Amino acid sequence: MATTTETKPAPSSGASGAAAAGDHLEIKDSRTGKTYNIPITDETIRTSDLKQIKVKDDDFGLMGYDPAFMNTASCRSKITFIDGDKGILRYRGYPIEQLAEKATFLEVAWLLRHGELPTQEEYNLWVRDVTYHTYVHENIKQFMEGFRYDAHPMSMLTAGVAALSTFYPTAKNVYDEREREIAFVRLLAKMPTIAAFVYRHVKGLPYVNPDNSLPYTENYLSMIARMSEPKYEAHPVYARAIDVLFILHADHEQNCSTNAVRAVGSSHVDPYSAVAGGIAALYGPLHGGANEAVLRMLEEIGHPSKIPAFIEAVKSGKGEQRLMGFGHRVYKSYDPRARIVKKLCDDVLKIAGMTKDMEIAVELERIALSDEYFIKRKLYPNVDFYTGLIYRAMHFPTDYFTVLFAIARTAGWLAQWEEMLLDKEQKIARPRQIYTGNGERPYKSTLNYTHTIKK
Ligand code: CMC
Repeated sequence: MATTTETKPAPSSGASGAAAAGDHLEIKDSRTGKTYNIPITDETIRTSDLKQIKVKDDDFGLMGYDPAFMNTASCRSKITFIDGDKGILRYRGYPIEQLAEKATFLEVAWLLRHGELPTQEEYNLWVRDVTYHTYVHENIKQFMEGFRYDAHPMSMLTAGVAALSTFYPTAKNVYDEREREIAFVRLLAKMPTIAAFVYRHVKGLPYVNPDNSLPYTENYLSMIARMSEPKYEAHPVYARAIDVLFILHADHEQNCSTNAVRAVGSSHVDPYSAVAGGIAALYGPLHGGANEAVLRMLEEIGHPSKIPAFIEAVKSGKGEQRLMGFGHRVYKSYDPRARIVKKLCDDVLKIAGMTKDMEIAVELERIALSDEYFIKRKLYPNVDFYTGLIYRAMHFPTDYFTVLFAIARTAGWLAQWEEMLLDKEQKIARPRQIYTGNGERPYKSTLNYTHTIKK
């Protein structure tokens, strides 16, 4: 949600008669005839201010009803700014286009947490620390062995990261600054290692340990692709493409998985468990799983000549079948990340060669962008429309794509998790509900409790 950083003086609130200084919302309750002045700050009212609106003294008070948080800000944040209508995305004030062109992923991860770009000395130390912690306990390999050959990579990653919490029990001291610091380093360092182990498990290949003489992304690609050679050197275009994709995916303010990390973390559980919750949320096809869904959709279409029929099916399907990689809850114009990814995709395909999927994707985008249905609903390609094509060109298995997203988003999840912990206004996340079930009724069982099993 776009918010301003300017704050206006908050007037006092109260029932009819209270002074209405500053910006406020005047609400008249038709049930009682009373008028209330609710302060407006940052173009927002506090829903807890509605609680004073009651018919009887012992009423709970008025609530806001907002399924899926369509119009509710759950926090104040200084990390990421999005203006969905204008297609703007900034991390700590820096435009995503500039970061994608000039920065490295680890620099961006530092920026997200600390709010400023690192000095050379800070950067060197940060890279040294992350590199030093890339190794995981050998038991993690045995843990991975427990999965079946066809286990979904995201399920393995969720479990692998949750398992990390068992190795670092003191991480639960979330108000110890040093513990948070080391958890940041460890999670960013070990995520590519676990992600690479997941890949090797799927492929039935031996796990490759980190090669700490390599930079972050090259080290990850080495753990993915190295076979018998003593040293693996990733193609520089591929390594840069992955690093840029990591930057683009590093944070995206209060999306589904970040909200999950904040909500799980608000119970003061350790960060490994909170991040595992975020990975689970990211797995879903409406969130990070969309890049996988895009490729499956392109496979289903099969040929550019079948695109018009597919588009018609989407339009007449009453929302059941969607054009995957199109549309976004906040971007109602072109997703700025999609523009950058399209260019990256061109660079990668120059080396990997044009694919049938890419031909279909380009034509699909062209047709959808000129179709009244998509124009009217402001449905444009999102970041996932082209990321899958890059991963496919680099031979990552389709069901592995979201794992790459998760490595990157770890930087944002952790920055948001810490911001939530240090925010004095935050408490354990606990929404309200409107109960629509039965009223009180007496318990009367009709069951026979004899334990019988049919043969
Ligand atoms: N294809 C066809 N119709 C669509 C699509 C789509 N991809 N997305 C939305 N619509 C229609 C929808 O049917 C509805 O139409 P109507 O008004 O006639 O009922 C209208 O557009 C508004 O849709 P919505 O479901 O209210 O929009 P939302 O903001 O709740 O959903 C979304 C956002 C991303 C879940 C949705 O656009 C979608 O399902 N897209 C496909 C999945 C996808 O690509 N997800 C990746 C999101 S980007 C990665 C990330 O940041 O996580």
